[in-house]
Amino acid sequence: MMREAGLVAEAILEEICDAAKPGVTTWELDQIARRGIDKHKVVSAFLGYHGYPAVVCTSINQVVVHGIPRKNEVLADGDIIGIDFGIFKHGLCADTARTVLVGEVSAEKRRLVAAAHDALEAAIALCKVGNRLGDLGHAVQTHAESLGYSVVTQFVGHGTGRQMHEDPQVPNFGDAGTGKRIKSGLVIAVEPMVNAGTPVVEVLDDDWTAVTKDRSMSAHFEHTIAIVDEGPWVLTRSSSTPGHP
Ligand code: MF3
Ligand code: CO
Ligand code: CO
Repeated sequence: MMREAGLVAEAILEEICDAAKPGVTTWELDQIARRGIDKHKVVSAFLGYHGYPAVVCTSINQVVVHGIPRKNEVLADGDIIGIDFGIFKHGLCADTARTVLVGEVSAEKRRLVAAAHDALEAAIALCKVGNRLGDLGHAVQTHAESLGYSVVTQFVGHGTGRQMHEDPQVPNFGDAGTGKRIKSGLVIAVEPMVNAGTPVVEVLDDDWTAVTKDRSMSAHFEHTIAIVDEGPWVLTRSSSTPGHP
């Protein structure tokens, strides 16, 4: 059932990402997401969550996470935008995010986005029974920092299931060989946030938008992953099968 949720989340996220072109508003991206939710007869995990007013988070450039879609916010050529989308199907959550390049993007920004993407893949490769959560965080942190970037510590990944955010916390930092041991059947959302400058994040007056304190660029990727005896099963990636990321 969580796989079915994951496939729907991926399909709708893909539609949203395809629409992220110069001239499009983040409000329009939210509309596309709402139509996808209706079409697939699923439930938004975000709308109303602690009062959140939309079904998608749209986080442009220096926005780390939790950007709120707005009618007057227009995507520009050269932007990077983190798009985070989550649903419930069968009463179970799938939570997934990507950072998308809008039009022609500088090599500097593309490198940052690639680093965040690859940091998530490094963590997924370690999603195996018997490994520890610290192994994942360590993999994310060392990948990002080896490229001169920082990882956000004020937000973390999480277990997911009947609720979007469940135990355990899944930090994007830490030491290998530490933390809880992964058991078969654990489902977690792993979501590195990688900053070009300081790791410090501040939340704007709307109480949601999290930006880098130094206003440097930030990139975010997220998958919902079931860890089964065969290895990682990336529920929000249709090409994944149990044991094959
Ligand atoms: N999906 C986010 C996460 O990755 C949480 C979004 S909170 C919301 O955990 F209120 F914006 F939905
Ligand atoms: Co998310
Ligand atoms: Co999440």
